[in-house]
Amino acid sequence: LNNGLGKTPQMGWSTWNHFACNINATVITSAASAMVSSGLSAKGYQYINIDDCWALHQRNANDQLVPDPTKFPQGISGVANYVHSLGLKLGIYSDAGTNTCQGQPGSLDNEQTDANSFASWEIDYLKYDNCNNQNVPPKVRYTDMRVALSQCGRSIFYSICDWGEGDVWTWGNITGNSWRTTQDIKDVWQSMMLNFYLNSMHSQYAGPGGWNDPDMLEVGNGGMNFEEYKSHFSLWALSKAPLIIGCDLTQMSNETLYILGNSDVIAINQDPLGIQATCRLACDYQNYLTGVDVQVWAGQLSGGSQVVALMNWSVLKRNYHLNLRDIAITGNATIYELWDKTTTSGNFIAATGIPPHGIKIYKVTPTS
Ligand code: GLA
Repeated sequence: LNNGLGKTPQMGWSTWNHFACNINATVITSAASAMVSSGLSAKGYQYINIDDCWALHQRNANDQLVPDPTKFPQGISGVANYVHSLGLKLGIYSDAGTNTCQGQPGSLDNEQTDANSFASWEIDYLKYDNCNNQNVPPKVRYTDMRVALSQCGRSIFYSICDWGEGDVWTWGNITGNSWRTTQDIKDVWQSMMLNFYLNSMHSQYAGPGGWNDPDMLEVGNGGMNFEEYKSHFSLWALSKAPLIIGCDLTQMSNETLYILGNSDVIAINQDPLGIQATCRLACDYQNYLTGVDVQVWAGQLSGGSQVVALMNWSVLKRNYHLNLRDIAITGNATIYELWDKTTTSGNFIAATGIPPHGIKIYKVTPTS
């Protein structure tokens, strides 16, 4: 979307994956302060996003959405003041239907009223969901909110969440700054890799201003092991996916912080060219379902480098030898692995001991 936002994929945090409906002002402000104290905000994580369950079930006499006063005694603007005072931005959630997925009022036919409320509360980001949509075509509903946001007097990042309906990737880029391509992620390996795979089919549509969204991160929520979470984060990075953290920022383990804070991996995600990597070798869908092999993914980066990843879908430790010419990189290159922080040079990558469900992710820079 040509609104000046999302030149690189958005980075931040959302309540949903960890807290679901158990949210209140303290949950949000604690997350915001942990974002800063953990050092993650300095690495680029910027948005603190309130997902579903913040509103009362009834609109007020002026047809406006009302923040639940027991959860948000100072309203949403009270939270916005605090989040902004930390140098962060605040996101909110609504739905392109009569009700949200959890039954609060949706914004269908109240788009401008609600966009105006969000602007008056100094909101910076809207995630716009797809439940109870009355079968109005998604392109119509999501465009109505785009227009409302453009007239609300505030610059608001627009995150479309229609789960890929209406082939959103074909119109997402003129409508929003990102668009969900899949069903909801779950904190399990199979769900994460299915969302990654489905999202990868639409790589041609991603670029500065608009991104394919395979859903928010589960890193740190406990359902996958360390190597799986490293893979999850690496795959989201090379997909140019939004990096929206979904764990409890106030309770992060050192391992979680190490993964989410890997500046080299973040730099792949935030590369200004904004090219989503694609599968290059061993790309059969079978590989996702049965996990039989190592796949090779690659994508162009700015400055003539490429990101190259060796993804071990199998449950066995693997070695893998990649001749760079097999992915159209000719001559010698400097090859830097972003987790091990090792550098080699040559015209091949020889990876040993890639753990089950583990990944090697490299920045490959041709030397000539
Ligand atoms: C849908 C969305 C999720 C989340 C929930 C909230 O399922 O896809 O990301 O926002 O609604 O109810």
